[in-house]
Amino acid sequence: MKHYLQFTDLTADEYAYLFERAAIIKKKFKSYEKYHPLADRTLAMIFEKASTRTRVSFEAGMYQLGGSVVHLTTGDSQLGRAEPIEDSAKVISRMTDLVMIRTFEQTKIERFAAHSRVPVINGLTNEYHPCQILADIFTYIEHRGSIAGKTVAWVGDGNNMANTWVQAAALLGFKVNVSTPRGYEIDEKLASGAQGVSASSYQFYSNPLEACKGADLVTTDVWTSMGYEAENEARKKAFADWCVDAEMMAAAKPDALFMHCLPAHRGEEVEAEVIDGPQSVVWDEAENRMHVQKALMEYLLLGRVE
Ligand code: CP
Ligand code: NVA
Repeated sequence: MKHYLQFTDLTADEYAYLFERAAIIKKKFKSYEKYHPLADRTLAMIFEKASTRTRVSFEAGMYQLGGSVVHLTTGDSQLGRAEPIEDSAKVISRMTDLVMIRTFEQTKIERFAAHSRVPVINGLTNEYHPCQILADIFTYIEHRGSIAGKTVAWVGDGNNMANTWVQAAALLGFKVNVSTPRGYEIDEKLASGAQGVSASSYQFYSNPLEACKGADLVTTDVWTSMGYEAENEARKKAFADWCVDAEMMAAAKPDALFMHCLPAHRGEEVEAEVIDGPQSVVWDEAENRMHVQKALMEYLLLGRVE
């Protein structure tokens, strides 16, 4: 049994399979072809933080695969009333086939997985967001082909998204130029995950414009992630120069793409003319969450098919 708790939980070979599979599954969806490999299977979705994309993509995706879902939040379950996470894992995993969790500390999802009888998927923690990077790389491949050897510019917070990009770069053979304000750098220990950060896959830039130079993909995220709201005012000051604008996009390659996991704040981490401009693929990126996660759920439950 495999869990998907961070990007390094799968190999490059498994990712190659998943990207191919996601394309096939997406094609079936686009042509209204019925495909129910997960009939009678149930996905439990546990949300301890808000969500639009993750909720809709997992829920719609599971129904499309013939399965069903159970949606739990901290407020409407015993999780919010201090039932031990280990006990919750034992109970929930006896009644369902797969569990997706969005929570705070990575250790919580690790403790759940350690006591789960079924695969557990990380739907975002403070430290990582592997399903999003899975969708982002799939989106890159759809638009530009293989990401191997390419350069991704990360502009903004050294957060869950940034850590996961660095993990993916080391595993799939591309580079990440990371530019964060001082004090908000990525934590190399977190970013290294199970495999260790390859020095050649990650480079730090204090100037965001420099990080974008020659990039194939420019990407950013909110200045204040969920769970860090108390720091909002301080972050607004610290991140003022980390707004992806036309000048940064012009420094990147002429055919560079722009991505954002969303939700976005126009005028903060990105200018409207960039996110709503011709290089932006944010809507494909959001939609692809569903297609890659369908491939992931199929893989975790059925292994390689066809
Ligand atoms: N990108 C992402 O995970 O969006 P939600 O917070 O809406 O799920
Ligand atoms: N870094 C953001 C991503 C939201 C999808 C957060 O953790 O809130």
